Amino acid sequence: MQYDLLLRHAHLHRRADLVDIAVKDGMFAAVAPDLAQATAVRELDVEGCLVVPPFIDAHVHLDAVLTVGQPRYNTTGTLLEGIQIWSERKPSLTHEDVKQRALEAIRWEVAQGTLYIRSHVDVCDPNLTALRALLEVREEVRDICELQLVAFPQDGILSFPNGRELMRTAMELGCDLVGGIPHYEWTRDMGVEDVHYAFALAQEFQRDIDCHCDETDDPHSRFTEVMAADTLTYGWQGRVTASHCTAMHSYDNAYAFKLLRLLARAQVNVVANPFDNVVLQGRFDTYPKRRGIARVKELLAAGVNVALGHDSIMDPWFPLGRGDMLAAAQLALFLCHMSGYEEMSEVLDLITSNAAKVLRVQDRYGIDEGKPADFLVLDAPSAFEALRLIPARLHVFKDGREVATTLPAKSIVRRAAALDGQVVHFRR
Ligand code: FE2
Repeated sequence: MQYDLLLRHAHLHRRADLVDIAVKDGMFAAVAPDLAQATAVRELDVEGCLVVPPFIDAHVHLDAVLTVGQPRYNTTGTLLEGIQIWSERKPSLTHEDVKQRALEAIRWEVAQGTLYIRSHVDVCDPNLTALRALLEVREEVRDICELQLVAFPQDGILSFPNGRELMRTAMELGCDLVGGIPHYEWTRDMGVEDVHYAFALAQEFQRDIDCHCDETDDPHSRFTEVMAADTLTYGWQGRVTASHCTAMHSYDNAYAFKLLRLLARAQVNVVANPFDNVVLQGRFDTYPKRRGIARVKELLAAGVNVALGHDSIMDPWFPLGRGDMLAAAQLALFLCHMSGYEEMSEVLDLITSNAAKVLRVQDRYGIDEGKPADFLVLDAPSAFEALRLIPARLHVFKDGREVATTLPAKSIVRRAAALDGQVVHFRR
């Protein structure tokens, strides 16, 4: 058998021995410890590097990326000032402006191995400018990146003029998922109705749901339980994601215990966003300051599927970032105390297999024979080393085609005999 591509000596996540990986017609054709007899058009010896399926950004806002400083910088650094600045920027959004920024951010993400992106799109805009632009982007990048769009009511479904109608129009225009923002509605009752509306709309359009939910430090913000209850009522198990859920950080343990069991029972996914969560939450605290991130470790232990998002890339809420999901995973490792040896393996799952479940792409995701040959080669041998080094994504493949290449940076220390002038590998 002549393959199109043979990867030699690859490390797979959670597998000790090295394997060879054969690709034919854009699909994984064989994954085995030794394909010594096989030949291919291209052979690539990865010398023990870790090969993983593509990273997944389960939560980002592509309409707002790269707008930091427009029209002004966030001086307090808070979520609420961020929303205010975004509302000042929104009137100047144009079709081309949104497209160019989104395409640039996608280019950054793909270069670093992220080939699946779920983006929330602010639909609190009578013209739906950002949505119309991102619907085009979704089609234009299809060859290298699968983009899912969520109708996201930034200013509320009930608290914004014609909020319900805008959500419906967004779905009619072709959004993939229904969003919500219950904790931001004016009252508790309106928040509950926000969730109910999202579920009714999702059922009508037969779409999945991903709501921003309880993105606050307020321990009384309890809409994630409403999402879980509605999931059970509608029989939408596995199709619902609660994003952020930062209030969970501040719930008393008795209530958190109840909620975690309910989320597991309803098979509601949770997406945490370490960059924005740690920067935006805890802002009303003096000391000690809360980290304000969902209880990732405890959710996983309770059997809840958890994934991560980048959330912001240089926007009014989070001024930094370069679209690197591995950096987001490393930050989650720190914030969630997941530095135990086995826990570090689970952290890699948060941006790969767990996130594939959130996006419901498991049937075509993973390094298995018969699945599309989507994968990346990291300049590190293991999850442990990947999370320590945040190494270069040497090769990124989609459908068996190389879509991005990165050369690792090289450091050399000179002018000290004891340090010998050789290339520094940062290896023990
Ligand atoms: Fe978000």
